Amino acid sequence: MNYTVTEMSAEHIDGIVNIENKCFSSPWTYEGIKEELYNENSHFLVALSESDSVGYIGVQEICGEAYITNIAVLPEYRRMGIAECLLTSAVDGAKKRKCEFITLEVRESNLPAICLYEKNGLLPVGKRKAFYSNPKEDGLIYTLRFNK
Ligand code: COA
Repeated sequence: MNYTVTEMSAEHIDGIVNIENKCFSSPWTYEGIKEELYNENSHFLVALSESDSVGYIGVQEICGEAYITNIAVLPEYRRMGIAECLLTSAVDGAKKRKCEFITLEVRESNLPAICLYEKNGLLPVGKRKAFYSNPKEDGLIYTLRFNK
């Protein structure tokens, strides 16, 4: 399957909202995604097949700390390496911008995502009790520190 990874722009917002709706129980709204376009700390990337948005990753960087807000791939495009490509691109970007580490939370039952992070070198460093709602669940914190 051919796809490209590119920075999010206004034309991708509808596609990202579609991904959110299909992948999460509490999806981000159109307005929420749009705000990230104008947030200078945000670095959102989209995976495109033809011109369709099939996956995306959101990163916010503050004071040298990169935080992955979300990563998702449409169900019919999974297990093709798209999330790994998005994650690698986000890690490369954060390193280039001199971040010290990249981090995120994940539901403790989310085995596909946990496998993705562990395969790509992120390590479990903690747990946030009842971090998630709908349904309520603890969040595991995964982090990758960059060498200076
Ligand atoms: N079971 C076990 N491991 C899985 C997996 C699954 N269902 N899906 C991905 N992985 C792991 C594997 O290690 C895989 O490497 P491999 O194919 O060589 O075995 C690696 O992740 C890379 O897989 P990739 O094809 O790049 O992942 P993907 O494009 O299918 O996307 C998610 C993975 C998690 C983003 C996708 O399942 C998704 O969108 N889930 C819903 C949204 C979500 O939960 N996001 C995470 C929020 S923290």
